[in-house]
Amino acid sequence: MREDGKVTVLVSGRGSNLKALIQQQSGYHIHHVISDKADAGGLVIAHEAHIPTTVVLRESHNSIGSFKNAILSAVQETEPTLVALAGFMVLLHPAFVETFYGRLINIHPSLLPNFSGLNTHARALEAGASEHGCTVHFVDTGMDTGPLIAQAKVAILADDTPDTLAARVIVQEHALYSWTTKHVAQGSIRLEGRTVLYSELARTEAASRNFSIF
Ligand code: GRF
Repeated sequence: MREDGKVTVLVSGRGSNLKALIQQQSGYHIHHVISDKADAGGLVIAHEAHIPTTVVLRESHNSIGSFKNAILSAVQETEPTLVALAGFMVLLHPAFVETFYGRLINIHPSLLPNFSGLNTHARALEAGASEHGCTVHFVDTGMDTGPLIAQAKVAILADDTPDTLAARVIVQEHALYSWTTKHVAQGSIRLEGRTVLYSELARTEAASRNFSIF
C-alpha cells in the first residue's frame, strides 16, 4: 500500500475515533467520511477538518439491499486504500466485505471475542471481568468476528460504572485505532486468508505501546 494511504472512514455517531484518526494522521490520510446519519457528530468533525463527506440515508432507499448497495458505491467512488469503520452502526453487505476484505477494519469497545455486540462496558462489569479494553479487527461478514489485529487493555476497578469504564476505554481506542490504521495503510500489518501478518517494526511498536497483537 502507498505510504500516504487514502482512508475512508464510516461513522454513524459522535465521531471521537474519527477525530483521533484525523488528529494523529501520519502514514495515512483521512480523505473522505461517509455517514448513514445526517446529524452524525462525525460529519461536523469532518467539515471542520475540510474533509469531503457523503451521506447515504436509509430513508432514501426502498429496500435495505438498495441502501447497502448505495453505501458500497459511495465508498468505491472514494477509491480508498483502506476503509475504517468508526462507530458505523450498519452491518455491511457481504459484497462490501468481499470487495474490501483485508482493507476493511473496525474498532470495537471490548476485548474480542468477549462481548461482541452492544453495551460492552455494562456486560463486562456484570460478568465480573478483571480487565476490559478495545480491539481493532479486520471485518468479515459476521458481527465483530473478523481476524483480530490488536488490543489495548484497561484494568476494571472495584467502583467502576459503565460510564467510568467507557471513559478509560475510549482513551485507549483513540491511541489504538490510529496506530493500527497507520500500519494497515502502509502494509506493515496485513491479512493473508484469516491470518494477520505483522512486520518486525509493527511488533516492536506494539510491545513498546503495550498493545497486544496476535
Ligand atoms: C466506539 O466505542 C467504537 O469502539 C464503537 O463505537 C463507538 C464509536 O464512538 N464501534 P465514536 O463515535 O468514535 O466516539
